Amino acid sequence: MALRGDVVSQQTPGDMNIRRAALTLGKRARAELKGQKPLILWMTGLSGSGKSTIADRVEDKLWRCGYHTMLLDGDNLRFGLNRDLTFTDSDRIENVRRTAEVARLMLDAGLIVICSLISPFRRERMLARQLVGEDEFVELFVDTPLDECIRRDPKGLYARALAGEIPNFTGLTSSYEPPDAPEIHLRTDRHDVDTLAEQVLGELQRRGAIARSR
Ligand code: ADX
Repeated sequence: MALRGDVVSQQTPGDMNIRRAALTLGKRARAELKGQKPLILWMTGLSGSGKSTIADRVEDKLWRCGYHTMLLDGDNLRFGLNRDLTFTDSDRIENVRRTAEVARLMLDAGLIVICSLISPFRRERMLARQLVGEDEFVELFVDTPLDECIRRDPKGLYARALAGEIPNFTGLTSSYEPPDAPEIHLRTDRHDVDTLAEQVLGELQRRGAIARSR
């Protein structure tokens, strides 16, 4: 198990008086022990589009196949790590940045990390992608039309936002930029959760990211 630490980013940190510690183990070594390729599955979509539900089902299916996973859910992170952030554009940018950094750490731990957050801006999703290797980031667009999200309104938030009670609400008073070319496009108006989760696993298998039988 003598794989050395992986080459790390040379990005200059804000404070010039720090140096990266040279570590013996790296991502490959940690992942090899788990017998898997680490990966970030980044799910973007409107509030109420079904991200959390699909992410939860995908994680359960991966776990049943024997994969080591972690699910970073936008709502849940806002109870802890991101509890100081609001829904202004700048706070959403910081929300996505922190989540992407945590996902990268978990990737370094050798995990398959599922991120489920609105992440409304293309630029920040691109920055998240650029933190890791090209074949380590898979963008999934949970595509539910705004009208359908408003109709479903699982948390009652659209009704409140439309009544003017919630400022900066995604799709209404705050913008959402859909991905141009997501690796995986999930149409929730056409398929149920289980079918969509199977679509995700099927596409990961086709890409060689996972093998169904381990
Ligand atoms: S993100 O835009 O910063 O990526 P995130 O995924 O963390 O958003 O949180 C979105 C969740 O917060 C929504 O699913 C919803 O439950 C809740 N929420 C509360 N206020 C808002 C708002 N103004 N816009 C969107 N979602 C909101």
